[in-house]
Amino acid sequence: MTQRAELLIFRNIRSFDPAQGLDETGDVVVEAGRITRMGPDAAGDLADAPGARVVDGTGRWLLPAFVDLHAHLREPGQEYKEDIASGLAAAAAGGYAHVCVMPNTKPVNDTRAVTEMMLRRAAECGGARLHPIGAITLGQAGQELTEMAELREAGAVAVSDDGVCVMSSAVMRRALEYARNFDMPVIQHAEDHELTAGAAMNEGAVSTRLGLRGWPRVAEDIIIARDVLLAEYVGARYHVAHISTRGAVRIIREAKARGLPVTCEVTPHHLLLTDAAVIGYDTACKVNPPLREEEDAAVLREALADGTIDAVATDHAPHSPLEKDCEFREASPGLMGLELCFGLLLETFGQGKAPARLVEALSTRPARIAGIEPPALREGATAELVLIDPEARWVPGATPLQSKSRNTPFLQRELQGRVLMTLADGRVVFEAPEVSR
Ligand code: DOR
Repeated sequence: MTQRAELLIFRNIRSFDPAQGLDETGDVVVEAGRITRMGPDAAGDLADAPGARVVDGTGRWLLPAFVDLHAHLREPGQEYKEDIASGLAAAAAGGYAHVCVMPNTKPVNDTRAVTEMMLRRAAECGGARLHPIGAITLGQAGQELTEMAELREAGAVAVSDDGVCVMSSAVMRRALEYARNFDMPVIQHAEDHELTAGAAMNEGAVSTRLGLRGWPRVAEDIIIARDVLLAEYVGARYHVAHISTRGAVRIIREAKARGLPVTCEVTPHHLLLTDAAVIGYDTACKVNPPLREEEDAAVLREALADGTIDAVATDHAPHSPLEKDCEFREASPGLMGLELCFGLLLETFGQGKAPARLVEALSTRPARIAGIEPPALREGATAELVLIDPEARWVPGATPLQSKSRNTPFLQRELQGRVLMTLADGRVVFEAPEVSR
């Protein structure tokens, strides 16, 4: 287990928290797991106190720690891909203090027993804090609703059948009505399975060229449009997982303009890659929803920048070589991503300047969506912080990773911007050797 930070001083560091209107260089003092002092020379004599640990902040940033709305930690049932211990360690190494975990485990997290088991395991492990997401339907079979009251009571923060879509409008309507009573968002994996049967990638010029069956964008858009209507009709909170299309952005933008409580997330891979990455039949690029076209990725980047997309979520979906070293059609979809997310995004959203929108999308907004107290750089707040070296260049894979899996096309690609230390619940849950220099 990790230790509470008793006296930890970040000296002369740039602290950045757009939710507090904060962007200043000075000291940040953590005592007994809480931020107690902030500002120029705030540490004063404390730096010489017995047991004080001083971290040199020159050229570094301190941000609110990140909150992931969407990760697959595979325990129970597929621990050869990931387990709660390795997943929470990977999350901590990625700068996350909180990680919401999807229910498509084996068995599915559709009962209090599985939710409680996950929380018990997490409490033994350290690392980031785990928040279970319960299933919408029993076995994620799309038919009968789960006992959401029990899931909520056991600690679930939301419900989702992620991996599959709730296809029935009637079931989705009831799910929205039921979840509303427990103030949980319903998170939809938006995919009309009738339109995507047999599909292995995006439907377009590249799928035609490769001879692979395509997953048309409209299969995502149709479900989101229907769900927005249902959410409006019943007055419930609705969140769309991993949006990937220009149409999804348009529908969500309109819904927000009408004041509906609709939110959504995007993954780093849908922001940065297109279906052209699939041309070599690289199974590391097989994911659901599939990588789209440049026009979609450009619209997603714009929508993230203007706040139409609320959050960046990793959709960390670890798989082993068993599921990936095979024919493209047979390969399981998914990319691992908890440890790479920040480095991938900083590259796109501007080097050198602390990107306000990025911090909001990685921390404050997802926390609010999941009903988690947002990590904050504020005196009195529990220390949930991430220490960043914005200049550090590193190569995932060459730098050791905590996840058990390696299924990402970004391995061996040089990234700029590295997580050096993460605090969750007042504890140091990750520390890179470079912290002390
Ligand atoms: O690519 C994906 N992988 N998309 C999903 O929705 C599920 C996930 C998984 O669990 O592997």
